[in-house]
Amino acid sequence: MTDDTTAATVSGEQAKIEQALTDRVVASFGDTQNPRLRQLLDALTRHLHAFVREVRLTEEEWNAAIRFLTETGHLTDDKRQEFILLSDVFGLSMQTVNVNNKTHGDATEATVFGPFFLEDAPEIPIGGDIAGSAHGQPCWVDGTVSDTDGNPVPGARIEVWEADDEGFYDVQYADGRVAGRAHLFADDEGRYAFWGITPTPYPIPHDGPVGKLLAAVGRSPLRCAHLHFMVTAPNLRTLVTHIFVEGDPQLVAGDSVFGVKDSLIKPFHTQLAGTPTPDGRVLSGDWARTTFDIVLAPVS
Ligand code: BEZ
Ligand code: FE
Repeated sequence: MTDDTTAATVSGEQAKIEQALTDRVVASFGDTQNPRLRQLLDALTRHLHAFVREVRLTEEEWNAAIRFLTETGHLTDDKRQEFILLSDVFGLSMQTVNVNNKTHGDATEATVFGPFFLEDAPEIPIGGDIAGSAHGQPCWVDGTVSDTDGNPVPGARIEVWEADDEGFYDVQYADGRVAGRAHLFADDEGRYAFWGITPTPYPIPHDGPVGKLLAAVGRSPLRCAHLHFMVTAPNLRTLVTHIFVEGDPQLVAGDSVFGVKDSLIKPFHTQLAGTPTPDGRVLSGDWARTTFDIVLAPVS
């Protein structure tokens, strides 16, 4: 298969030489025993070669790309995953989420996982508080978990995590605190509720090569304000998602990792100080509340 863009910019003889190389490399994977691995390598080769030929990549640009990837690798360790961040800002993470979480009736849409989930977050009862020492405006979150036939999902496990109002997750502080995260279980009717904090926009880590890339193209590292959820229940598809805050100006400016889906934007209603809370908690300042009804798809 000859690439059309290339055919338009180089002589027929040159295009033949380039295409022959692509074909030889594809053929070199021809004996791969694992058919899926063969498919991946075949398509990857074709797309990579098509890219180089389409943009007529210079050797200087090839070297710059290698330097960039090397820097990305050097910054990556068990705490900082710069390669995932790179995938995130290219929308690759989000596209992989889309491919693997096909729409199913009114099932809640999925979005990116992000790097800040922790196993073993504390358990809270329904109505408990995930904030711990994380600062921010208190926010009551409630809703239900059901399947796509409308049946409640009692006992669904709900993991929630979020940044504080300075834009940092607990794991970004050096003091080992656990704050702004917890898990709870839906009740017999699939209902859940907890206190969190009203999400605010925050930047993805941008002090490395990915940050330099964003700066070079005039893109902001900010994520739209969000609260992370992961919901699991037997025989239902695990849902990794967020809710976003309706009216957040960053929604107009855009999310640095392309994680926003309209169905996940929820009204967060501000309640003036003194407004009675759903559970009789006494608060001295304003607070907010939102509802998120979660629908889990069947395992496909
Ligand atoms: C997050 O939402 O926590 C996140 C997602 C992608 C990259 C960085 C952070
Ligand atoms: Fe996040």
